[in-house]
This record gives sequence, C-alpha cells and structure tokens, in this order.
Amino acid sequence: MTEFLGILFRWLHIIPACLSIGGVFFMRIILPVGLTVLPPDQRKAVFLRCRRVFKFVIHPSILLFLISGVYNSMANWGAYHRAIPTSHAFFGLHVLLALVVFVISLILLAGKEPPVMHKQWMTVNLAVLMFVVAAAGALKWVRDHAPPAPTMGMIAPAIVKAD
Ligand code: HEM
Repeated sequence: MTEFLGILFRWLHIIPACLSIGGVFFMRIILPVGLTVLPPDQRKAVFLRCRRVFKFVIHPSILLFLISGVYNSMANWGAYHRAIPTSHAFFGLHVLLALVVFVISLILLAGKEPPVMHKQWMTVNLAVLMFVVAAAGALKWVRDHAPPAPTMGMIAPAIVKAD
C-alpha cells in the first residue's frame, strides 16, 4: 500500500510539473510567435482565450503540488533527516522557489486582463521553475545517498551498553 501511494503521489507531483512548465513555456515562448500572423486586434482575443484555459490548468496544479508535496515530504522525512544539512538546504530551496512560482502565477492570472509587465514576470516564472526542478533533482540525489537508517542490530548494543 505504501509503495502504491508513493508512486501515486509522485505521479500527482510530476504531472502538474509537466503541465505547468510546458504551459508557461507555451504561453511565453510559442504562443506569442504564433500570434504574430494574426491582425493586431485578434491577437489579444486569442491570447486572452488561451490565458483563461491556462488558468484552469494552473490553479488545480497548485492544489496538486501542495497535496502531493506534503505527502512526499512526510514519506521522505526520515531520509532527509539523516542527510541534514544538505537535504534541508535543497528541500527549503525547492519549497521556497515553488511558493515564489505560486505567488507570481496567481498574480499574473488574476482578473480578466494580465497586469502590465506580464511578459517579463512570465519569463521570471519560467526561469524560477527551472530552478525548482533542479532543486528537486538535487534533493532526490541527496535522499538516495543518505546514510542508511539505523537497524536493531545497530541500536541494540547501545541499549545493552546503557544498561
Ligand atoms: C512549482 C511547484 C513545484 C514543482 C514544479 C515541483 C517539481 C518537482 C519535481 C519535478 C520533483 C521530482 C519528482 C520525482 O523525482 O519524483 C519534485 C519532488 C519533490 N517535491 Fe516538488 N515541485 C513543486 C512544489 C512542491 C511543493 C509545494 C512541495 C512541498 C510542499 C514539494 C515537495 C517535493 C518533495 C518532498 C519532492 C521529493 C524529492 C525527493 O525525491 O526527495 N514540491 N518536485
């Protein structure tokens, strides 16, 4: 059961990551190039329609990130604890940058029209997302190389000695 939940919540973390990064890349890099073939008055209408759909992708993704992220954190906490301080550095970086991405995304997608400077902030969001994934990769490496959990064989002599 634990294995099943581990895979399920990992999947529930990776799918929104793919959708968010792909979505931000599409909205910031691909769509603006495609829009140039349209007359200026139609560009805005198409962009706003795409932005609306993008919003329906990002909001549930944030929810999924939070739920699966909390589960993954709890499931891996023992290994992170054995790999302090490196694990906490990358864990903190991953979560902190993720929160930055959430705030930027929510501000950019609020309201019917995007704020001024939305292009620049979307570029910032894309760059921060790259660092979020890099921090996750580093965190996984640190977890995979954490010292093994103490077994009864390692604990028992200490108990005997204490007696
Ligand atoms: C922009 C939001 C986020 C993105 C793009 C993101 C992306 C990722 C990716 C790509 C992985 C690697 C998945 C794997 O190898 O299984 C990962 C792992 C992880 N993420 Fe996130 N994440 C985000 C938000 C969060 C949040 C909010 C939390 C905590 C509440 C969180 C906690 C974790 C944990 C604990 C892992 C497991 C790392 C390990 O294998 O040791 N993530 N994340």
